[in-house]
Amino acid sequence: MSGLVRLSMSLDRELNDRLERMQREGKYASRSDLFRDLIRSREVAQAWEGDGEALGTITLIYDHDNRTVSRRLTHVQHHHHGAVLATTHVHLDEHVCAEMIMVRGAASEIRHLADELGHQKGVLHSALAVSSTGKALTGKRPPHTHHHSHKAGGHAHP
Ligand code: NI
Ligand code: NI
Repeated sequence: MSGLVRLSMSLDRELNDRLERMQREGKYASRSDLFRDLIRSREVAQAWEGDGEALGTITLIYDHDNRTVSRRLTHVQHHHHGAVLATTHVHLDEHVCAEMIMVRGAASEIRHLADELGHQKGVLHSALAVSSTGKALTGKRPPHTHHHSHKAGGHAHP
């Protein structure tokens, strides 16, 4: 952090009203806090749009009574072992499992992995939460990750 810069800016009244509402509803202590958050959110979004290195969490809810689903989910994760950091499995009830998978890698690989897991038969719901490895948030530009040899949707998991 290298000193503070004060800035003044002009906004349409209507945009300003929306900004104030964002601050109020988001419980930001100050407009400055809101702007800091907006800048970081934009940087995370850009990393995803530009296929930079990203961090994500894939949540899967699936039917334990489907005999092959957990094996298939594990198989897909093994295929993408370079991206999978950690997995937490919770038995929600007698029949339903939740799996939270923390992943790091090129944004395109994370999206592919989330789709591939989420579209397995027996999966009841899947969600991808996108975040950052932190490099984009500290002002240092992340190195552009290389596209790995994955052809979107093209390969099969034996
Ligand atoms: Ni379970
Ligand atoms: Ni794959």
